Amino acid sequence: MKGIILAGGMGTRLMPLTKVTNKHLLPVGRYPMIYYPLHTLAKCGIRDIMIVSGRGHAGHFLELLGSGNQFGVRLSYALQEDAGGIAQALGLCEDFADNEKVAVILGDNIYRDNFKDDAEKFKSQERGAKIFLKKVQDPSRFGVPEIASDKIVKIEEKPQNPKSPYAVTGFYLYDNRVWEVIKKLKPSGRGELEITDVNNFYIQDGSMKFSVVPGWWTDAGTFDSLLQANILVSREKQELNFDSHGPFAKPA
Ligand code: G1P
Repeated sequence: MKGIILAGGMGTRLMPLTKVTNKHLLPVGRYPMIYYPLHTLAKCGIRDIMIVSGRGHAGHFLELLGSGNQFGVRLSYALQEDAGGIAQALGLCEDFADNEKVAVILGDNIYRDNFKDDAEKFKSQERGAKIFLKKVQDPSRFGVPEIASDKIVKIEEKPQNPKSPYAVTGFYLYDNRVWEVIKKLKPSGRGELEITDVNNFYIQDGSMKFSVVPGWWTDAGTFDSLLQANILVSREKQELNFDSHGPFAKPA
């Protein structure tokens, strides 16, 4: 299974922090934000990882992360030339994926948990997709599932009247049909190809699985959530300490 980190977008909700610096390079604890999703994929045992970023910042990711050798992974880079949404950025990775399944993570999503078991299980199943939910205080900021008799019926992107208290978090497992799904997407009201529409395809297909994330999770794309990410990470010295834990070597 291949890994993909989506690190595009303008980071407008964090202006002026993001005026010259990419959102995913801002500090969270002692590390640039993108270290955390990279670590999440590495902990799944994924070795081939593509990072998609936007114009103006692609070189910064290359300078920071290089070949990935330092982190025990092999990194590839893709450029999203115009801001066409998360699903459009994902669509750039079709050749890289080379017909394997993919684990996709948003570059501003930080998880306490290790998804190794989920990734292993998904690798051995024939087809389908999996998403990870978390109960949140402000579901309207996220993709929100409507759940009926333990099944997701539909996901709504940033609904005004959320049908459940859950957010669809930014870690997704997809089979190789995802590329055809993306090609058929139409831009949403905000002019973007939405990852929520990709997920709704798998829901309608009856092949979407989900679980609720047990540990803490946060995005870091707003001032409140960036602060929250820093607080949560700083309380987790042991588990998220890249120097002594996991596949990461001490950063230079
Ligand atoms: C994106 C997705 C949304 C998801 C969220 C998780 O939203 O569109 O479905 O719940 O990431 O962080 P964004 O915050 O990028 O607008």
